[in-house]
Amino acid sequence: MKLLKKGAEADIYTASWNGQNSILKIRKKKDYRIHSLDIRIRTLRTIRESKMISEVKSFGIPTPLVYFVDEKKCEMYLQFIHGKLIRDLPATQIIRTCKEIGRIVGILHKNGVMHGDLTTSNFILTQKGLVILDFGLSQKTDKIDDYAIDLRLFKEVLNSAHAQIVDDAWALFILGYQKILGKNITEKIINQVLVIEKRGRYANVV
Ligand SMILES: Nc1ncnc2c1ncn2[C@@H]1O[C@H](COP(=O)(O)OP(=O)(O)O)[C@@H](O)[C@H]1O
Ligand SMILES: [Mg+2]
Repeated sequence: MKLLKKGAEADIYTASWNGQNSILKIRKKKDYRIHSLDIRIRTLRTIRESKMISEVKSFGIPTPLVYFVDEKKCEMYLQFIHGKLIRDLPATQIIRTCKEIGRIVGILHKNGVMHGDLTTSNFILTQKGLVILDFGLSQKTDKIDDYAIDLRLFKEVLNSAHAQIVDDAWALFILGYQKILGKNITEKIINQVLVIEKRGRYANVV
């Protein structure tokens, strides 16, 4: 077992599961949280993530297979996805991929699922296409505001981590998204993104 990544929330190891290349995702104890609450949060996110990763497959979202979940240890074994993180791709390739990211996010929203952590570190480009990861903060919702929160986070990530391409990348993302959800709903959600952004600005002023 080898440590691959230390994420914000979890440690990621490369491991073997029944002879398969796999990822072991362990949600670590956080000492700043009250112990009982910490266990509850880590257990909930582990269960939520493993369920949602499997569930969204039913409507065509490409995610890793879940091999095994240990709720008590707050860990799970996932299929190892070979490829490159979108965050690490050259700018032109990130732009090109954004349309497909928009399409995937559109399918999630169309089926009432908010991802909750839409960053360019949560998508891997493989030879067969894009795979989406990290459903620990996902939830079922039918609220326009929740979908807008997803979009707004992704826009913010483009703005901060990929500033030189944000306009083109965002436009293509919306194009892919709109292909799935249609013009009217997409416009409604984008309007809500603007409302949230305004809210943020006022909050900064106060
Ligand atoms: N199934 C997987 N296959 C390949 N790499 C993965 C896989 N799952 C996670 N990773 C790598 O580990 C990183 C962190 O994993 P992630 O599930 O996003 O945890 P966190 O919740 O800490 O962000 C990802 O950005 C990716 O580089
Ligand atoms: Mg992540």
